[in-house]
Amino acid sequence: MKIAVIGANGQLGKDICEKIIKTKNELVELNHDKIEISNIDCVSSLLKEVKPDVVINTAAMHNVEKCENDPENSFKVNGIGAKNLSHICNDLNSTLLHISTDYVFDGNKKKPYVETDKPLPLNVYGNTKLSGEYFIESIAKKYFILRVSGIYGKNPCRAKGTNFVELMLKLARERDEVRVVDDEILTPTFTGDIADQIVKILSSNARYGLYHVTAEGSCSWFEFAREIFSISKTNIVLNRAAPGEFAIKVNRPKYSVLENKFLKDQRINIMPLWEKGLKRYLNQ
Ligand SMILES: NC(=O)c1ccc[n+]([C@@H]2O[C@H](COP(=O)([O-])OP(=O)(O)OC[C@H]3O[C@@H](n4cnc5c(N)ncnc54)[C@H](OP(=O)(O)O)[C@@H]3O)[C@@H](O)[C@H]2O)c1
Repeated sequence: MKIAVIGANGQLGKDICEKIIKTKNELVELNHDKIEISNIDCVSSLLKEVKPDVVINTAAMHNVEKCENDPENSFKVNGIGAKNLSHICNDLNSTLLHISTDYVFDGNKKKPYVETDKPLPLNVYGNTKLSGEYFIESIAKKYFILRVSGIYGKNPCRAKGTNFVELMLKLARERDEVRVVDDEILTPTFTGDIADQIVKILSSNARYGLYHVTAEGSCSWFEFAREIFSISKTNIVLNRAAPGEFAIKVNRPKYSVLENKFLKDQRINIMPLWEKGLKRYLNQ
């Protein structure tokens, strides 16, 4: 298969490319200098020249504060971008594999969300990513939508500059005490594990549709930080932040744990416990 990865130099995109290279598939890396997903002419001319069997889209406007301040551009990239890719993939009879987010939920369930739970985003980012999902579901003939959560990888996130693990290690070097919120529950997920799961999905006759793809288990940001310092043997005083200690500019779900139910139903879930992914990340 010829697989084109959009956002190939991004945090997740780079890990996906690294895994695809190790398979028998042909890889085409597409970065922002070559493709603007919100521009249908650009998407059409480039993908019709490349003629991929599969298009993996990791590209998004996903800095939550920037999205809140610029809903129009956020919708153009996260919504219209997904719509454009759906139309052109149909024209080429290609499969679209698109990355979405846990932020499509409001967090009130307090139990792991499955794929059939009703989304209710709290912010512009979540709403625009959900619009992208809806465009794909209503247009694309062959698609996988993968909702991921709390991702970190060895390549820096281009939109945010760093990831939570590196931020904690940096703060531990600079300060005597690190304070972290304990009231937001998530599943930190290593991008290398998502990339492995993507290769598994593409090689295993999985049925098209929506999937939750996160590591197993869950924790608060405080518990995540505690595990980072424990595995990396970092000596630092770690404390829970007081409620309201950090100003919240944009509403976010307090609970965004996803259950990989559809992967498990098809016996293709290979996502490890989040602690195991973190160990692999820190040991490499
Ligand atoms: N980070 C998280 O915790 C998290 C959680 C849940 C879901 N996600 C989702 O995971 C995906 C990947 O995140 P990531 O951390 O790998 O992001 P990243 O490092 O910022 O990479 C995004 C890539 O997309 C490219 N891109 C951005 N806008 C584009 C556009 N309009 N047209 C074409 N390319 C564009 C970027 O290029 P430039 O940098 O050159 O613009 C970059 O190569 C996103 O879909 C995001 O919504 C992330």
